[in-house]
Amino acid sequence: MNKVTKAVIPAAGLGTRLLPATKAIPKEMLPIINIPTLQYIVQEAADAGIKELLIVISRGKEAIKNHFAPAAKLEAELLAKKKLALLEEVRKSNKIVKIKYVYQAKQLGLGHAIGCAKDFAKGQPIAVLLGDDVVVSKGKTALGQCIDAYNKTKCSIVGVQPVETKVINKYGIVSPVKKADAKKDVFAIKNLVEKPEPEEAPSNLAILGRYVLTPDIFNAIAKTAKDKSGEIQITNALKFLAKKNKVCACKFSGTRYDLGNKVGMVKATIDFALRDNEIKEDILKFIRSKK
Ligand code: UTP
Repeated sequence: MNKVTKAVIPAAGLGTRLLPATKAIPKEMLPIINIPTLQYIVQEAADAGIKELLIVISRGKEAIKNHFAPAAKLEAELLAKKKLALLEEVRKSNKIVKIKYVYQAKQLGLGHAIGCAKDFAKGQPIAVLLGDDVVVSKGKTALGQCIDAYNKTKCSIVGVQPVETKVINKYGIVSPVKKADAKKDVFAIKNLVEKPEPEEAPSNLAILGRYVLTPDIFNAIAKTAKDKSGEIQITNALKFLAKKNKVCACKFSGTRYDLGNKVGMVKATIDFALRDNEIKEDILKFIRSKK
């Protein structure tokens, strides 16, 4: 059995929805309170058993590399001042998992970004976690659930959750082989549709930032034409594999936050603050005072 030990995080995008913040700061480095979004995602990969991680970046996003590298001067200063708890926090980010980087020369879409991982994958299955999607799970991580589904089915896996009708046209939507299967936690899919209008959508199950992909994905990406916006979509590449009955959906449990837009950022910040005992009471008091 091919164990899934490699993961890719595409983080090369322009982050235009969060401009001007993303002019100089990678959107994946914008924090939820004091921890960058990307650190939560790297931690999820490690918690799911990933041993080697590739982050796809682009020029100007080197802050990502710096965050996951040792910071000798800062660490020495914190040590000298005996700020040991902070020192531990600072060191944590470069100890989570072994990370490599590859540059995507031009932002040609998510499918193209994943295609940049071909040499890293070396013919093995790869997990993919989007650099701006955080999932908080009570039990197993979202990626861990998708890896379990891969181990059972040996198919490429797309992580899905139901979404409200009005936002269906923002996502890739899956079409189960049998309609009734959509009720199951893991099911085979016959097609995927990128951003359909709600009335044309084959289900309300949207692909939300977690995948496990078999090595044939790289040929599929190479065959995939650019869409209207000039991007190569991973959803379109997966259609080739779905035609050969080689894609399954895993309905993962957990609360997912889309850190790529303003509403998602604020929701994540509020929820994470209310989970943090150090600041929870102050924040609750503040929110109640707004009524
Ligand atoms: P998004 O489409 O949400 O990111 O891609 P974006 O293009 O940066 O965002 P906007 O629409 O301009 O605001 C999801 C993930 O895929 C990465 C992004 O960095 C993000 O983490 N991505 C996207 C790439 O690595 N390369 C691309 O060409 C596009």
